[in-house]
Amino acid sequence: MSLRPKILVVYYTQTSQLKRIIDHVLAPLEGKADVVFEELKPVTPFPFPWPKHEFFDAMPETVLARPRAIQPLKVNPDEHFDLVIMAYQPWFLSPSQPVAAFLQSPEAARLLKGKPVVTLLGCRNMWINAQEKMKRYLHNLGANLVGNIAMVDTHHNLISLITILRWSTKGKKDAFLFFPPAGVQEADIQASGRFAGPIAESLSSGDFSGLHDKLVALKSVDMKPGLIVLEMRGVKPFRFFANFISAKGGPGNPARSGRVTLYRIILLAAIPLLSPFTTVASWLKLLLLRKKLNQDVTYYKGISLREG
Ligand SMILES: Cc1cc2nc3c(=O)[nH]c(=O)nc-3n(C[C@H](O)[C@H](O)[C@H](O)COP(=O)(O)O)c2cc1C
Repeated sequence: MSLRPKILVVYYTQTSQLKRIIDHVLAPLEGKADVVFEELKPVTPFPFPWPKHEFFDAMPETVLARPRAIQPLKVNPDEHFDLVIMAYQPWFLSPSQPVAAFLQSPEAARLLKGKPVVTLLGCRNMWINAQEKMKRYLHNLGANLVGNIAMVDTHHNLISLITILRWSTKGKKDAFLFFPPAGVQEADIQASGRFAGPIAESLSSGDFSGLHDKLVALKSVDMKPGLIVLEMRGVKPFRFFANFISAKGGPGNPARSGRVTLYRIILLAAIPLLSPFTTVASWLKLLLLRKKLNQDVTYYKGISLREG
């Protein structure tokens, strides 16, 4: 019987970006830990590239946490793991639907209860609200969040918005005109093996209490106050439109098609229009409410969950 620690990696990915990130993070642990991969697969796959309408039509059920079903897991839900890595991506400021479906399953409760969990995100740059929902899921499942690694596209918000929409709806990831390639920068993915050291230390000592601080010291989480302001502005409208659209029927229902189009137009106009204002608003907040914003940055960088 192997005495090596056992890691379960639960993930979903459309383009394999997240799987590449996982592989780089875990590469230094090869031979030192037994890693089991559980890839989440929706019963009816989400398309890639996404037809535009279908992309925005996925918003309501993502935000309202009513995910499309996933296929049965391969892993035995009663198997013991020393660490679970929950690798995921935000969709519309919430955990992606396959990941939400997993977190709502009875198998997740059996796999995660009492286990240390590291969350690993591969996304554009807006993950705070999704991570708050993730913290809540893990808390309710009795899991112990011990670390977070958020890999983002560090280009300017509007640049990454354009490149990710082109990638998601046309399947084109490459650089074009003056735009860089879409997604998390390759150099950052290549450098992500640095996180394995502290994970290995915690696995061998069985003490995960200082793990997140060690990961943060290696820049596992970088936070721009302007993006916090922008993201928090988006949460309420997303919830409003999610309810407004789903009131007309479920995913793909032609009765809600007009509302989906309206949401798409408003969202795509609002982001570039509001972006300069939120930049100014975050400067003002930094000047006038520096203490509050700094508190927010500290909280969102961390792994604790606010009451309420
Ligand atoms: C429907 C959809 C919505 C997305 N919403 C967000 C978001 O709210 N915040 C963010 O940072 N990235 C967002 N992304 C980007 C994803 O988080 C992710 O980086 C990208 O889809 C590649 O992930 P993959 O590993 O599934 O291929 C979204 C992507 C899709 C397809």
